[in-house]
Amino acid sequence: MDLKQYVTTVENWPKEGISFKDITTIMDNGPAYKYATDQIVEYAKEVGAEIIVGPEARGFIIGCPVAYALEIGFAPVRKPGKLPREVISANYGLEYGQDTLTMHNDAVKPGQKVLICDDLLATGGTVDATIRLIEKLGGQVVGCAFLIELTELKGREKIGNYPVKTLITY
Ligand code: PRP
Repeated sequence: MDLKQYVTTVENWPKEGISFKDITTIMDNGPAYKYATDQIVEYAKEVGAEIIVGPEARGFIIGCPVAYALEIGFAPVRKPGKLPREVISANYGLEYGQDTLTMHNDAVKPGQKVLICDDLLATGGTVDATIRLIEKLGGQVVGCAFLIELTELKGREKIGNYPVKTLITY
């Protein structure tokens, strides 16, 4: 299946000059959503994932069905102030300034093999912060899977040697 045909490009959103990749038109198409999920499930099996970690909010859309299909757990990465128990934090750079991501401090167990799932690899800031969170907890990042990669933004360079799987590239 050519998944790219189900992505809708929205020009000049959310800001002038941005060409936004809207994945809701993959999600609202049953066979396309299932196909995308199945590709990542196969990858998760290849790398031996024992838990899925996904950053809010669109990482939940990709990661949760993968975890469900494999009967493994899903641990959310969230913006500050959203998780109710003790958290660890990691900062990442934005175009202007910084933002922070958090995880429960027991969400990943030492030695556990983790697959990170998200909809989009752009600058790589989000996945880089997510890798740091997982490693602070002693988890082993065995892969990072994305629906879409925006190659011009060079997110792969930020991820370094971690294995990356992307289904659609621009
Ligand atoms: C988007 C996207 C990725 C991230 C990719 O999330 O879902 O998580 O940006 O960009 P990066 O590689 O440059 O870090 P966003 O922060 O917009 O949050 P959302 O999923 O809640 O919309």
